[in-house]
Amino acid sequence: MNIKALKGFKDILPDEVGFWQLIEGTARDIFHRFGFAEIKVPILEKTELFARSIGEATDIVEKEMYTFADRNGKSLTMRPEGTAAVLRAFIEHNLQAKQPVQKLYTVGPMFRHERPQKGRLRQFHQLSCEVLGSDRPRLDAEVIAMAWLLINELGIKVSLEINSLGCPDCRPLFKDTLVEFLHQRAGKLCDDCERRRHTNPLRVLDCKNAHCQEQYVAAPSILDHLCSGCEEHFGTVKESLTQLEIPYQINSFMVRGLDYYNRTTFELITDALGAQSAVGAGGRYDGLVEQLGGPKLPGIGFAMGMERLVLLLQQQEEQGNTPSSDLFIAALGEEAQKLAFPILHGLRKTGLRAGMDVEGRSLKSQMKQAGRANAAFTLIIGEEELSNKVAILRNMGNREQEEISLPVDLLQWCTELTAKITTNQC
Ligand code: HAM
Repeated sequence: MNIKALKGFKDILPDEVGFWQLIEGTARDIFHRFGFAEIKVPILEKTELFARSIGEATDIVEKEMYTFADRNGKSLTMRPEGTAAVLRAFIEHNLQAKQPVQKLYTVGPMFRHERPQKGRLRQFHQLSCEVLGSDRPRLDAEVIAMAWLLINELGIKVSLEINSLGCPDCRPLFKDTLVEFLHQRAGKLCDDCERRRHTNPLRVLDCKNAHCQEQYVAAPSILDHLCSGCEEHFGTVKESLTQLEIPYQINSFMVRGLDYYNRTTFELITDALGAQSAVGAGGRYDGLVEQLGGPKLPGIGFAMGMERLVLLLQQQEEQGNTPSSDLFIAALGEEAQKLAFPILHGLRKTGLRAGMDVEGRSLKSQMKQAGRANAAFTLIIGEEELSNKVAILRNMGNREQEEISLPVDLLQWCTELTAKITTNQC
């Protein structure tokens, strides 16, 4: 019997890899523009790192971690997220000594034993960003703005939801009010909520059960229980987002699945992926560095799920929104093929994603191939064009075409055509 990949673990095949490279390349470019530096941390960590940071009573720690004893009997866990590991490294290497505010990002696989479905895997990849050392609300807006810019540069449509979870001063009061509210509804909630009402009451607000959601319409809102410091903080975050013209909705039911958050939380939501609506999410975690044995330093960050970004880009491509190559050369006959060969190489050298049919098939089948390659432009060189020393450049989007002269100076010709195609696609 053939051995197959594990359930929830996915091979990334060549026709998908382009999306991954586009996402990672765009993300790195934006993160560097915002002053972030990359950090690479191990996939395996001591189990207690995640139990202490994510929270003992969360789904992740209770039932989703890949935990096992190594050959010496030590309990190890394959990281379910990036934040805890990055903070462990930050503390271990005393990085705060280098810079008062550290901006770090990491890219890589994470592991959660969840029920696999579209956009939800057991091995998935995150682009994960952390800023350590400042509690300024404008920083929250800056971090959200960076995530927003990345999504925009990828051409993806999402909505932004924000909330404040308060701080250790005001949240306990809200929690008491919520527990009392839930107590009055005891026996009317789903099994998960009945359990969580004792173990992790805030999480009930996130329940997807329609009956529970009906009950929670009347639930108290954290936003009515913020202390003056948290209210002011959240006010500045909202004001700064407005200043940057980033549209947001307030969702006071957003509680997040990890316990380390306080104050600002946010999610980037899509309705194009069914139940897996969060493309990215994050928030502030001011006590976490200290909780992990480090100095008293505030922090904020977010992570984006790369599989979900890939799915959205693929959907867009299926709808014909994003060309996956710049140019396809349709050269008819041996003489045209010979002429096109250095042109193809020249255009690739000057920066185009270009391809051609090397078998020299009929025009009809080459145009079909250009369609399959989802090329933005096609350059057609047939017998007639050859004798007139021209080629036809067809814009595959609006079907407009023009005649252009064949190259005399190949390099200059390729540079000019590359510039023309790149600007016409922008
Ligand atoms: P999270 O909400 O657990 O937050 O995950 C962030 C993103 O990772 C989600 O919005 C989703 O896109 C993706 N993701 C999560 N689980 C899966 C899965 N099973 N399959 C596919 N994609 C998934 C965190 O992990 C925090 N560490 C984020 C953060 C960084 N907060 C502060 N700094």
